[in-house]
Order: sequence, then structure tokens, then C-alpha cells
Amino acid sequence: MTNSEIVEVTINFVKKTLQNAEGGHDWFHIQRVFNNAILISKEEDVDVLVVSLGALLHDIADAKFNDGDESLGPKMAEDFLLSLTVPKRTVNHVTNIIKYSSFKASLTDGKIKKKLFSSKELRVVQDADRLDAIGAIGIARAFNYGGFKNRALYDPGTPPNLEMTKAEYKKSTAPTINHFYEKLLLLKDKMNTQTGKRLAEERHQYMLLFLEQFYKEWNPLKNLS
Ligand code: ADP
Ligand code: NI
Repeated sequence: MTNSEIVEVTINFVKKTLQNAEGGHDWFHIQRVFNNAILISKEEDVDVLVVSLGALLHDIADAKFNDGDESLGPKMAEDFLLSLTVPKRTVNHVTNIIKYSSFKASLTDGKIKKKLFSSKELRVVQDADRLDAIGAIGIARAFNYGGFKNRALYDPGTPPNLEMTKAEYKKSTAPTINHFYEKLLLLKDKMNTQTGKRLAEERHQYMLLFLEQFYKEWNPLKNLS
């Protein structure tokens, strides 16, 4: 199979597998991340097949929706790619990207986490996925996720907690607005690539405007005296 055939078959596999996925993690999320990744790759010296497969398969079985099982996604991707006779080296690289691309993988469990795997291709997929968590799309996904979890939009009595460990983050039932301070507004400074940084800056400014307007509408009496 040629590389573009491998990508084509993978697209079909992912579309089919994610048919019933929740709105923030559906095929369109994957498609946006894939497009972001291709865009970023234009200015990076990377293996485009690895980046493409990593982006397409990065959420193939999100642990959040599979009883916290974090080995399922990498395993599904591995079985699938081996069935296409993709070289073992490429398969290993892609499964590592799936294991280490998530935001949770970068959180600590109370102690400093050792960097277990890194590559230029991983950094591109990470940027591509992070871009889809911020800006207008990021706002939409956050409230969609909050609704899925039955969270409040905002509660002035529950301030954001910037010191959460991985376990606390998973259990958190905080209002969705807190998620902006706990995660979304921090992403722009974590970007790895030049293209990623540039796009993140624009999306970051958009979120700041959104928050400003949100508080204005939350209490229209605030600035009256
Ligand atoms: P991804 O799988 O794309 O790397 P996550 O699984 O961490 O990212 O989150 C998926 C989407 O749900 C993101 O847009 C993220 O901002 C949103 N999300 C995750 N946790 C929360 C939360 N506690 N409150 C609101 N949105 C959340
Ligand atoms: Ni994702």
C-alpha cells in the first residue's frame, strides 16, 4: 500500500469506529486535528505518515469513555496498523504518540513525571490537538463536555483550582468556566511549534474576549451605581 492509501483506509476505520462518539470527540474533532497537523507539518521537518496516523488515531478509544482504560487506544491502533502491514517502527511510533499526546499524560500525580517519550511528530500532534481545545471550537467543546457531565456553566462560589493532580482533575465536578483557567488558558504557552504558537495566540485572545463578555452578561448590574 502507498502512504496515501494507508491514510485513506485509516480515515475510514476511524470514521466507522467513532460513529457513536460524543460530540467533542467525534470524527469531526479528528478531522480538525488531522488538518491542523497537516498545516503545522508544512513548516516542520517530520515524517508526515507518522503525523497523519498519530492525528487520526489519537482518540480512537478515549480512556474517559472506556472506564479509564488507557491501554485500549494504543492497542486498537496497533492491531489495526499491523493488519495493514505498516512497518513495525512506524506502528510503534504512532502508538507512542497515542499514549503520550494527551493533556492528562502531562499532568503529575503529586511528583514530577519523567518524560517517557518524545519526538517531533508527537509534538506536532500535541499542538494540533491542543489547538482544537482552544478558540471558538474549544469553547464549544468545553461546554459540550460540561453538559455531558451535567456540570454548571459557572459558579462564582467555586473558584478554579490550579494545583490539581491527575486524580483530582479526573474526579473534578467543577463548573465549566473553571476549565478555562485550569487548562484552556494555559495551553498557548505549551505549544511546541511556530505555526502552533501563532494559531494558539489568536484563539487565546478570542477566549479572553468570550470570558469578558460572559461576566458582563452574568451580572448586568455590576457596573451600575
Ligand atoms: P483531547 O482528547 O482532545 O486531548 P480531552 O479528552 O482532555 O482532550 O478533552 C476533550 C474536550 O473536552 C476538550 O475540548 C476539553 O477542553 C474538554 N474538557 C475536558 N475536561 C473538561 C472539563 N473538566 N470541563 C470542560 N471541558 C472539559
Ligand atoms: Ni483529541
